[in-house]
Amino acid sequence: MSDSVFPAGNLMKGKRGLVMGVANKNSIAWGIAQQLAAQGAKLAFSYQGEELEKRVRPLVESLPGNPFMVTADVTDDASMDACFDALQKKWGKMDFLVHAIAFAGKDELKGSFTHNTTREGFKRAMDVSAFSFVDAAKRASALMPDGGAMISMTYLGSERVVPNYNVMGVAKAALEASTRYIARDLGPAGIRVNAISAGPMRTLAMAGISGGKTLMKTGKDWSMLKEDTRMEGVAGAALYLLSDLGHSCTGEVLHVDAGFHAVGVPDIADEG
Ligand SMILES: NC(=O)c1ccc[n+]([C@@H]2O[C@H](COP(=O)([O-])OP(=O)(O)OC[C@H]3O[C@@H](n4cnc5c(N)ncnc54)[C@H](O)[C@@H]3O)[C@@H](O)[C@H]2O)c1
Repeated sequence: MSDSVFPAGNLMKGKRGLVMGVANKNSIAWGIAQQLAAQGAKLAFSYQGEELEKRVRPLVESLPGNPFMVTADVTDDASMDACFDALQKKWGKMDFLVHAIAFAGKDELKGSFTHNTTREGFKRAMDVSAFSFVDAAKRASALMPDGGAMISMTYLGSERVVPNYNVMGVAKAALEASTRYIARDLGPAGIRVNAISAGPMRTLAMAGISGGKTLMKTGKDWSMLKEDTRMEGVAGAALYLLSDLGHSCTGEVLHVDAGFHAVGVPDIADEG
């Protein structure tokens, strides 16, 4: 665990939660998990299937606090039932949920959105990347009698057109809207629900997007800070939203992208 970049403390002491979406050491979910663990959280991890287990297990076992792992394919109700049953048996209650899961077919992440999006591809992207948060939030909230916090991960392609992001942009728009509706429903139970809109980061999911390298370079060159989005920043935002520092913040989409989302026109050369 690279403890140098994730500050240690007690902000998550006594809190237990599920992190969904670690595939390897570059996963955003893994950065968030390391930060939460460094602040004393007790963690459970769900991973997509048996093939991923050999990559995820050594990471998880490197964390303190004896975290536990459970397999969960978010498109399979039986698998989700088993995951949350296991959590219920292990802990009874939980305090937070991290949803960092998305998928769209490679053929749909390039070229024309209008021409390349199939009915099946649209449904799949929506199911894995948006509905799965609604489903996980319903299940997790049943284990949060004392309140809690949840986050989902999104990207600017929900708000603006980003070449090749295509059907995933539409799914992220649905995810962000779902985040607000869930926040309203769960607010009276003291459960805060927010999304983090991260700038481009080098992960497996990013590798599936055609032109990903250009997206990364533009994300840096046009950003206000002139830097790549840093895992520490995304993980720090997650810590804020999931800990008691985040009191009163719900239904929000927090951009952590070096300021890229707020830029209207990139640099203009001095003509004077
Ligand atoms: N990398 C970026 O630039 C970036 C930027 C903004 C938002 N995000 C979002 O962050 C989240 C995490 O992505 P990442 O970039 O860390 O990539 P990643 O590939 O490491 O993580 C994606 C995860 O989704 C999981 N997944 C896909 N289908 C699943 C299924 N049916 N059941 C269970 N799990 C499934 C994968 O196993 C993987 O762990 C995603 O929602 C992604 O859209 C990524």
